[in-house]
Amino acid sequence: ESTLGAAAAQSGRYFGTAIASGKLGDSTYTSIAGREFNMVTAENEMKIDATEPQRGQFNFSSADRVYNWAVQNGKRVRGHTLAWHSQQPGWMQSLSGSSLRQAMIDHINGVMAHYKGKIVQWDVVNEAFADGSSGARRDSNLQRSGNDWIEVAFRTARAADPSAKLCYNDYNVENWNWAKTQAMYSMVRDFKQRGVPIDCVGFQAHFNSGSPYDSNFRTTLQNFAALGVDVAVTELDIQGAPASTYANVTKDCLAVERCLGITVWGVRDSDSWRSEQTPLLFNNSGGKKAAYTAVLDAL
Ligand code: XIL
Repeated sequence: ESTLGAAAAQSGRYFGTAIASGKLGDSTYTSIAGREFNMVTAENEMKIDATEPQRGQFNFSSADRVYNWAVQNGKRVRGHTLAWHSQQPGWMQSLSGSSLRQAMIDHINGVMAHYKGKIVQWDVVNEAFADGSSGARRDSNLQRSGNDWIEVAFRTARAADPSAKLCYNDYNVENWNWAKTQAMYSMVRDFKQRGVPIDCVGFQAHFNSGSPYDSNFRTTLQNFAALGVDVAVTELDIQGAPASTYANVTKDCLAVERCLGITVWGVRDSDSWRSEQTPLLFNNSGGKKAAYTAVLDAL
């Protein structure tokens, strides 16, 4: 096959990218994205601050720009993200306790109603575990609203749109030996045992010198899949974009039947949130890098 999306489709998977609404007027950007990818995640436009800037007043203008571009170009959409400690609007940052809990529920209902039946996977909860060796939940206003905030978010999401796969998404959970990975694993195992509605786990896969790729990522994907959830690589970028590491991540997903697909976190290096790391598959001019060919060959 000659594009990433078509190559991934040969095994029933997808190959996606993050799309920024502000770049949809850049024809180099849209021609690469339109050609290569068949899944889209809004880089920022479906986050809480963007979709509910004032409490109870939803604004989907930027989110819909990304959504409509995707669908008009034949792509499916992952929703990102409904409950997160970061990129909260000011009004939510200042809430706590039961009023924050209700605001989270109302937010999930409001956003999921707008996109009901249109989103293949929702990142319902993002980044709820602490970094380092504690294996604890991350301290946040949501966590302080009660340890059950994550399962409440998933139960709310299931009722709001039963057609979407509901994912938990996090970073530094790719290495099986990391405490954060084990903490996430325990939560997913517990949710499956108790019937909390979770369908998938997203591994962001932002690899860099501080949190490098390890070949046990495949073990991690397999172990989560064995709990009865799908898995996905949701925000892939790799410092320096070594072709061999990109190929390995691709092969890891292909080796796991329940790995739904791979999303890279941007199109060209210049589009990356970590552009100084040149972590993506296309250079600043839109040319294919060695990592691109390595991924295409591995698919
Ligand atoms: C990043 C975006 O790429 C940036 O544009 C924004 O300034 C901050 O957020 N984990 C996530 C993503 O789940 O939403 C983050 O995206 C990157 C880390």
